[in-house]
Parts: sequence; C-alpha cells; structure tokens
Amino acid sequence: MKKVESVIRPESFPVLREKLDEVEVNGLTVSEVAGYGKQKGLEGVFRGTRYEIKLYPKVKVEMIVDEDQVDQIVNLIKETCITGETGDGKIFIYPVENVIRIRTGEEGKEAII
Ligand SMILES: Nc1ncnc2c1ncn2[C@@H]1O[C@H](COP(=O)(O)OP(=O)(O)OP(=O)(O)O)[C@@H](O)[C@H]1O
Ligand SMILES: [Mg+2]
Repeated sequence: MKKVESVIRPESFPVLREKLDEVEVNGLTVSEVAGYGKQKGLEGVFRGTRYEIKLYPKVKVEMIVDEDQVDQIVNLIKETCITGETGDGKIFIYPVENVIRIRTGEEGKEAII
C-alpha cells in the first residue's frame, strides 16, 4: 500500500473530487494547509533586501491506496490540477506499513477495500 499525498490549489479540489469518482478510492483525508515551494513565497525582492514571505493557502489530499492504483491516481491528479503556472502543487508518495479498520479489525488491503 502507498500513501498518495498531494498539495494542490484549493480551487482544484472540487474538480479532483469529482474525477476521483472514476477510480476506486474508498476514502480520503483533506486538510486546509499553507505553504510555499521553490519560489519561497517571496513576493518581491528589491536588491535582495526588502521582501515579504508569503504562505499560500493550499489543500492537502491524502489517500491510502493499493500499489497498482498509484499510477492512475497520480495521472488523474496531474491532469486535473495543472494550470501551468507556478504553485500548481506537488505529489508525494510514501510506503504504508499497515491500515487497520477499527470497526472490524481488518488489516492491510482488506481495510482499504
Ligand atoms: N519540498 C516540499 N516539501 C513540503 N511541501 C512542499 C514542498 N514543495 C512544495 N510543497 C508544498 O506544495 C505547495 C505547492 O508547491 P509549488 O507548486 O509552489 O511547488 P514548486 O516546487 O514551487 O513548483 P512551481 O515552480 O511549479 O511553483 C507549497 O505551497 C507547499 O505547501
Ligand atoms: Mg512554487
């Protein structure tokens, strides 16, 4: 199992959510977050002295999925969340050791289907 975590533009989330109906994802966690990327949130640099560091509002979407769903989901996020401008976001993929469904005690893949 893998965790597919994406940090995207808030306005991309409703579209992504609709598209996720097309794939078998049986759960997700969404958070409103703030952050910056490569541009370091610098609003304006005047001879390297005065600048303002901004944290941009983003939405973090976390999904634990089967390994063979990862490519499909990553492609879906890429297609849905791209504008081509800086700040479109990032996708992070992590290995997941275990998942336990509290109600039934099911573990591993059984707990995410
Ligand atoms: N290395 C990182 N570690 C943790 N969070 C990150 C990292 N890079 C980006 N993020 C998060 O993702 C958000 C969007 O990043 P962003 O799309 O600006 O990345 P970027 O590398 O600057 O790419 P671009 O040049 O397209 O803007 C950031 O606001 C931050 O919350
Ligand atoms: Mg950026």
